[in-house]
Amino acid sequence: AHKFPIYSQEEVKKHRGLAEGVWVTYKGGVYDITDFVAVHPGGSKILLAAGGALEPFWAMYAVHNQEHVLEILAEYKVGEL
Ligand code: HEM
Repeated sequence: AHKFPIYSQEEVKKHRGLAEGVWVTYKGGVYDITDFVAVHPGGSKILLAAGGALEPFWAMYAVHNQEHVLEILAEYKVGEL
């Protein structure tokens, strides 16, 4: 199994814009979703989570509670917390 690098919350927080890259966390995983922002079906709302956790937003937008959404997210994994 591929072992991912460990990132701090502090490091993730630095990636909250298209210029420096958009990173998010989900259940201990770190994801670089920069390339997904432009194709997100929910538009630029996705940037609200930039540099932080997806959980509070996905709790509000239950449309993400589907297997295929997690499959998309998995493609962007770059590390772990
Ligand atoms: C819809 C993925 C983050 C707001 C969707 C859909 C996908 C998706 C695949 C379409 C679902 C479907 O209809 O089957 C993702 C991924 C995210 C992410 C991979 C993170 C990496 C967010 C965040 C927000 C958000 C942080 C809000 C702050 C929405 C909304 C829709 C949506 C409002 C519904 C769009 C519509 O149908 O009109 N997202 N999303 N998403 N997303 Fe996200």
